[in-house]
Amino acid sequence: MSGPVKLAVVYYSATGVVAEIANALVSEAEAAGAEVRLRRVAELAPDEAVDANPAWRANLEATRAVAEVTPDDLVWADAVIFGSPTRYGNVAAQLKQFIDSLGPQWQQGLLADKVYSGFTSTSTKHGGQESTLLALYNSVHHFGGILVGPGYTDGSKFVDGNPYGTSHVDGQGQFKVDGETRQAASVQARRVVNVARALRDGSA
Ligand SMILES: Cc1cc2nc3c(=O)[nH]c(=O)nc-3n(C[C@H](O)[C@H](O)[C@H](O)COP(=O)(O)O)c2cc1C
Repeated sequence: MSGPVKLAVVYYSATGVVAEIANALVSEAEAAGAEVRLRRVAELAPDEAVDANPAWRANLEATRAVAEVTPDDLVWADAVIFGSPTRYGNVAAQLKQFIDSLGPQWQQGLLADKVYSGFTSTSTKHGGQESTLLALYNSVHHFGGILVGPGYTDGSKFVDGNPYGTSHVDGQGQFKVDGETRQAASVQARRVVNVARALRDGSA
């Protein structure tokens, strides 16, 4: 089968860190030959909460042009990369709410046999990146998805040290997305696209 691999990058981001990593993943996946849909999940927090944090309001306004995800984006995709900031060591409620809306697609088997991967961001170094990604990956097993983590498949993974997915430590807004995180995004995006292509072409 020919044509580009179809990848959906689906994320929630309050203050913009995860959004920036999502954009890096999109660029790298496109460079690897994928057709990419960048999609954000809907904001559920009330305006009062968003307005209490200027970075949250700024990111929400800056990303309004990014289309909100729908279940069809997942059905369309050969591969899906989910992104969420860490929330108490877990997936953000906004992304979880979207995942919880996928019952009909799950029931019809429309989420199965796709490649899935994930990325996250925390404030602190041991703030729960791995627990967030593993929590996210629980749902992938229920989908019948094919989980593709980056592992230590590239020398740079021994530098960033997270085989579960791209991750970043923002130090409460001090540390911007840097070369190390972008390199991790590059490894992950290319691996997801290449594995998805091999699976698709192999089953054709
Ligand atoms: C309610 C809440 C819970 C959080 N929980 C954690 C946590 O468990 N560990 C951590 O290191 N950072 C935690 N953070 C910080 C964010 O995960 C971190 O700043 C992240 O990079 C924000 O990503 P974003 O800019 O894409 O929203 C939390 C932030 C909020 C608002």
